[in-house]
Amino acid sequence: MPYVHWSDDLDTGIPVIDNQHKRIVEYINRLCEAVEGQATREQVHEVLDQVVDYTLTHFAFEEEMLEIVEYPDLEQHRKSHEAFSQRIRQYQQDFAEGHDVASELGETLRDWLMNHIRKDDHEYGHMVRDWMHAHAPNGVLQD
Ligand SMILES: [Fe+2]
Repeated sequence: MPYVHWSDDLDTGIPVIDNQHKRIVEYINRLCEAVEGQATREQVHEVLDQVVDYTLTHFAFEEEMLEIVEYPDLEQHRKSHEAFSQRIRQYQQDFAEGHDVASELGETLRDWLMNHIRKDDHEYGHMVRDWMHAHAPNGVLQD
């Protein structure tokens, strides 16, 4: 599976979010490396759990941030996170049950997240940046 390369069009302009997104990209690439390299099943399992956990934690963080700024489309955004969370938890479970789904999960994460960041996350970027300038110029959402 091809590696993910960070490109500027993935930036939201919100440092803490961009750093988390970059970290997810790193994890996806680590999963690619494990799947394609000589990693044992146990090692793949570990990276797979890490990428899923980190992604879910990131979603929760993002939703909390959108709640603080009173983002009007939060419910829709949350639903999109929830649907995807269910999909990746299913993969995690399938893998734990012995199915060979690591590379499919990596590709799903890559495709879904890149699309989500470019589209859905970009939609809130402007509002969160304005909020940051008004409420926390050096503050909480910097990383
Ligand atoms: Fe999101």
